[in-house]
Amino acid sequence: MSETFHPIVAESDFPEEGKIAARLEGWSVLVVKTDDGFRAVNDRCTHQAALLSPGRVRRGAIMCPLHGARFEAATGRCIGGAYADLRVFPLRIENGMIEVAVPDTAPGPDERPVGV
Ligand code: FES
Repeated sequence: MSETFHPIVAESDFPEEGKIAARLEGWSVLVVKTDDGFRAVNDRCTHQAALLSPGRVRRGAIMCPLHGARFEAATGRCIGGAYADLRVFPLRIENGMIEVAVPDTAPGPDERPVGV
C-alpha cells in the first residue's frame, strides 16, 4: 500500500497544548508532542471509535475522552484498557515542517472515527 507525506504545521507553530488534529486524504490524524518528539496516530479510539483529539495528552500517552482508554503515542499501544492498538503514521520534519504520511487509499469504515 503506498502512502504520501503531507504537511501539517510548522514545528515552530505547533500548539502549546501539545496536540493538533488534521484530515489527510480522508484520514483523521492526531499529532502529539512527547518528550521524545512528535508522533502521529489515527484519531480514532479502538474501543468505540471516538475521536481521540479532544482528549488529554500526558507523559506521552493519549487518553480517550469517552471512556478513558490510554494509548502510548510513540507506539499506539493500548496501556490503559484492553483494546487494540492505535494505527501509527510515519512522521518526519522537513525544513521545519511536520509532515505525516497516510495511505493513498481512503480509510475504511473501521478506520474512521464516529461522526467523521
Ligand atoms: S471509545 Fe475510547 S475508551 Fe471507549
